[in-house]
Amino acid sequence: MPELSNPNSETMTKKTNCRLVVGLFWGDEGKAKAVDVLGENADIVARYQGGANAGHTVYTGGEKFVFHQVPSGVLREDVTGVLGAGMVIDLPELVDEIRELKNRGIDATSRLVISSRAHLVTSLHKRIEKIQETKLGIGTTLRGIGPTYSDKYARRGLRIGQLVHKHGLEESVRKLIDSHRPFFEFAGEPVPTADEILTPLLEKSAFIEDMVDDVSLFLTDSIHAGKSVLIEGAQGSMLDIDWGTYPFVTPTSPALSGVASGLGIDPRLVEEVIGLVKAFTTRVGNGPLPTELIGEEGERLRGTGEHEWDEFGATTGRPRRCGWLDGFVLTCNCRRWGVDKLFLTKLDVLDGMEKARLCSAYKKDGKVLRAYPSTAKELELVEPVFEELEGWSEGVARKTKFESLPENAKYYVKRVEQIAGCPVGWISTGPNRENTIVR
Ligand code: GDP
Ligand code: IMO
Ligand code: MG
Repeated sequence: MPELSNPNSETMTKKTNCRLVVGLFWGDEGKAKAVDVLGENADIVARYQGGANAGHTVYTGGEKFVFHQVPSGVLREDVTGVLGAGMVIDLPELVDEIRELKNRGIDATSRLVISSRAHLVTSLHKRIEKIQETKLGIGTTLRGIGPTYSDKYARRGLRIGQLVHKHGLEESVRKLIDSHRPFFEFAGEPVPTADEILTPLLEKSAFIEDMVDDVSLFLTDSIHAGKSVLIEGAQGSMLDIDWGTYPFVTPTSPALSGVASGLGIDPRLVEEVIGLVKAFTTRVGNGPLPTELIGEEGERLRGTGEHEWDEFGATTGRPRRCGWLDGFVLTCNCRRWGVDKLFLTKLDVLDGMEKARLCSAYKKDGKVLRAYPSTAKELELVEPVFEELEGWSEGVARKTKFESLPENAKYYVKRVEQIAGCPVGWISTGPNRENTIVR
């Protein structure tokens, strides 16, 4: 009888080259900038959740690129981009995004892998969201994200694999329409037809056919083969369906929990969790933002729009709400996701401010909280505890060495580390790849 060895013993103890970039706030923390910096030697960059609600901006060679569904890492030649099973794909928009990239010299067509299990956003979903938003007022991106995930969990969604193989496609579309018929009729809106839904999808199906694959197998094999894999989170932890400021959230898990289901990989293969934190806090859309600054101070952080990086949505163009850095959110999310290192962005935006404030905790009824409140109503009752730190006149923008930062800026970074209970591994001092301090 041949001797049988334990097939797992070796792979489980091996270190991998797989890292996760995750937003710790309400999105737009600068995840794409971090992916651009960290992706220098990456073989693969993978998205695991969300869809075209994401807007990931990278500046390179004097040009601005905004990614919505394509992983931003494909900007680097030879990087394979993965669109995971946990994503929802707006196919016509995806094809446009790939074609636009090609027109700008980035040909990703032969280096994209799309999960056959990812769900399809259809025109029906976008129409439903438009009607629902008038009642719910979440302030969504109107990309059909919520209704598509609802149909996924109601087990009537359409998936990429079904579109490509055409198995029972028309019947599934009919069932989908029938389940939503009462909604459209009640709203006094025309009920979508199968043609309306299917034609735009069928037109683009051939374009992606060769990209469709099993991403779980592809990624697990790649990670075990020692490939360098960067996992690109979208949205942020405070938009998490379970741990965010419900109901003002996105319907996915933008943190480590979403990686396992969205990519079909053992989450223990993720060697390092890199948490993204911006030097101040922003949110776009409605819902609680305890450190929000209304008026001049908020406008100072947002900027007027004169700079490329001023705080206006990369997907919807909406002005982002701004406030001081919320250290309590930071503490809670570093603990929840086991963040190994922080990537601190936009420290340069605080250049020239006389004082900088940092929220180190929340108080409710005079008591400091340990757990993050679970309802929007409770969050109205909390009082952020602020520390006032000395600002610095200039000297952070485009710096590349920690030693060359003004002393007050160094102190700010160290205080952020203390509040987070986690070291800052990178400081971003401008939108470009080079504007980065590695510590
Ligand atoms: P993402 O969704 O997390 O990838 O972030 P967005 O792309 O939506 O928004 C971040 C914005 O800040 C983009 O315009 C980036 O180019 C810009 N940005 C990132 N890091 C820095 C930085 O350190 N300094 C400045 N000034 N801009 C930055
Ligand atoms: P990136 O990846 C910031 C917000 C919307 C809304 C809520 C729900 O660029 O950080 P949805 O359309 O997802 O149902 O909207 O979530 N939101 C984002 N805010 N950055 C994002 O992505 C976001 N994606 C969704 O504004 O408040
Ligand atoms: Mg964004």
